[in-house]
Amino acid sequence: MRKHFERAGRLVSYLEAESPAAPRRGTLVLVHAFPLSAEMWEPQLAAPPAGWRVVAPDLAGFGRSFPVPASATFEDDARDVVALLDHLGETQAAIGGLSMGGYVAFALLRVAPERVRALVLADTRPDADSAEARRSRQAMLSTLDRDGVETIVEGMLPRLLGATTLDTRPDVVARVREIGRRQPADGVRAAIHRLMGRPDSTPLLPALRCPALVVAGAEDAITGPDLARRMQGEIPGARLVLLESAGHLSNLEQPGAFNAALGEFLG
Ligand code: MLT
Repeated sequence: MRKHFERAGRLVSYLEAESPAAPRRGTLVLVHAFPLSAEMWEPQLAAPPAGWRVVAPDLAGFGRSFPVPASATFEDDARDVVALLDHLGETQAAIGGLSMGGYVAFALLRVAPERVRALVLADTRPDADSAEARRSRQAMLSTLDRDGVETIVEGMLPRLLGATTLDTRPDVVARVREIGRRQPADGVRAAIHRLMGRPDSTPLLPALRCPALVVAGAEDAITGPDLARRMQGEIPGARLVLLESAGHLSNLEQPGAFNAALGEFLG
């Protein structure tokens, strides 16, 4: 179900689903990747872990959350997540982020760590952009201004999805293309600036005291298994799940295995 609330003159839109099992055991907030929206969490919203409410916000400038604030950072997105928890009446929630969503989860650990009950870090990385990554983001900004969001999405698809999905799942390829193409250029541009400016979150990892699950697609060409193993090694007590036949968007590519990992972790 789509819902929304207002924060500082902006609309924050989110998708919500709840498992029928009572009583509620908690709320899981799932934060989306770049350049997508809350809709990428459809397979998780369709099958919430037993007893859990699943909530997926559109980050500012994506989906139906607008307008994007000037010079936003991932800390601003994290404050929107805090406002969402307040709106839902939750003091704490399990926070899951995939790739850019993980960067927002790290920012949340900086601005309001007391609100994080457990952490799911999927296909993400803790470090800041390298000089080379910043250069390719600059090139992406030029492409965006010249050719639009569709070209950005087409250029990213071969890396967003794993080889198995690209070869055998045209439905998933089409859905990712569809979600990506719908994102407004202003939102995508602002997010590229947030991506380029994010700080190194590696020092947060050894200090983490909540349960953590690290997930990665075995075919992820952007933030693959090696990075996931490294993150798991740095977070005390973290679990690691590698998903076969999945690339960067592992929750969409192998939803059954992803949901099973979530269910086991939260159970
Ligand atoms: C994402 O999937 O959110 C992006 O790959 C993140 C990034 O480019 O760093």
